[in-house]
Amino acid sequence: MHTRPIRFLRRGEPVSLPNVPPTRMLLELLREDLGATGTKEGCGEGDCGACTVVLAEEVGGRLKYSAINSCIRPAHSIDGLALWTVEDLAGPSGLHPAQQAMVDCHGSQCGFCTPGFVMSLFGMYQNHVQRGRTVTRELAQEELSGNLCRCTGYRPILDAAQTMNAYPRAVVDEATVLAGLRALRKAPQAADAGAYLRPDKLADLLRARSQHPKAQLVAGCTDAGLWITKQHRQFDQLLDVTRAAELRRIETYPHHIAIGAAVSLTEAYAALVHERPQIAAFARRFAGLPVRNAGTLGGNVANGSPIGDSMPLLIALGASVVLMHWNKGRIAHRELRLEDLYVGYRQNRIAADEVLAWIKVPRPVAGELMRVYKVSKRWDDDISAVCLALRLRIEDGVVREASLGAGGVAAIPARAVRTEALLLGRPWNQSTVNAAMDCLRTEFQPISDMRASADYRRHVLGSLLQRFWLESQGGASVELESGPPA
Ligand code: FES
Ligand code: FES
Repeated sequence: MHTRPIRFLRRGEPVSLPNVPPTRMLLELLREDLGATGTKEGCGEGDCGACTVVLAEEVGGRLKYSAINSCIRPAHSIDGLALWTVEDLAGPSGLHPAQQAMVDCHGSQCGFCTPGFVMSLFGMYQNHVQRGRTVTRELAQEELSGNLCRCTGYRPILDAAQTMNAYPRAVVDEATVLAGLRALRKAPQAADAGAYLRPDKLADLLRARSQHPKAQLVAGCTDAGLWITKQHRQFDQLLDVTRAAELRRIETYPHHIAIGAAVSLTEAYAALVHERPQIAAFARRFAGLPVRNAGTLGGNVANGSPIGDSMPLLIALGASVVLMHWNKGRIAHRELRLEDLYVGYRQNRIAADEVLAWIKVPRPVAGELMRVYKVSKRWDDDISAVCLALRLRIEDGVVREASLGAGGVAAIPARAVRTEALLLGRPWNQSTVNAAMDCLRTEFQPISDMRASADYRRHVLGSLLQRFWLESQGGASVELESGPPA
């Protein structure tokens, strides 16, 4: 099956590449088709950041820059965007500040990770330094969390991030890039048909879904990309939801926010943190920044991994999903509670002609106590051994509402219904918490794997509930990132 040419901007110039297979990854395209071998392949699964490149698109009349992992990014998905690789940064006057700072701070030894770090630094440079914002140590750590280095150690690299602003400015000619992107959008192009479909309207997406129920739906491809790079699965046709303009929105209503299925994890979590600031540390620990920039909340939810971090949180918050399909020339929809979406390990109730279009998340109410905890071997960029999200509404010292979402303890993201029932109507005190801890530790039958034993998982579930109780009583929250107590 044919594909439309991929058209994008590089070094300010339009590039058009015909006949690219639908499952060809951007990293393969760069290294093998374009000979741009500065971008490296390490893990091939979005974990190490060696393959980081930067994309930009127009948002509100300005360029928005995103560092992403090219190893798991379908080449077709960059159509209409601007791309920078490590070869594109140095100018006639020398290295880019992101590169020169790495040299001057001794931020590289074997150098394999270095192009990826430089590209993440370039993203920070454009999004922060060029906008007059200081790169703090904390910001540098957060934005480099998706880049691993195994020789240099991170201190010199973090130093480089904080000293980029001291060099003469390297300026991207944004007016030219914006004009180039607009010209790409206006240029005539082949009809959206073939092996990689990327409709730019919701109705077209749903129509395409009804016409091609066997096409593999993809969003940010941060998991589906691994089916291609690691499992070597072949797909005849991909249907990309991320271009549907309606689904790129976050809408705020009096009682809920609605997050479109094409909204990136970065933006979705920013909205969730805005509603509930206490989840900020948890949001920062969802993968690394390049994965959060590419992946979508809708993709995470539709994928339904039992160790995905969004679902326990969303279940505890009482979220629901809106599934849409094309029916006799009109958009039809139905809504399910999130926990009712899943029927088995990575199996869900989304029909072959449906698309998960929206996630609706209730807004905070008075008396709400809410926390979410992630337990993993590494602090950054790791998969949860256990994730527990808790939301209670306490009135006059009595639990009036309870919702608990758990991850890593069952074949599906699960709701702790027995523990919720135990809590409801009881006074919020240590004796209730003790009973709830016992209940929670027996509610699930987790497995033992390389992340944790079943016993550990059961035990830690109860301990997290005790922590929640202590924090609700004003106990100081201790985070590993805070370091040892003074
Ligand atoms: Fe490791 Fe892409 S090669 S994230
Ligand atoms: Fe060798 Fe970073 S310098 S992995």
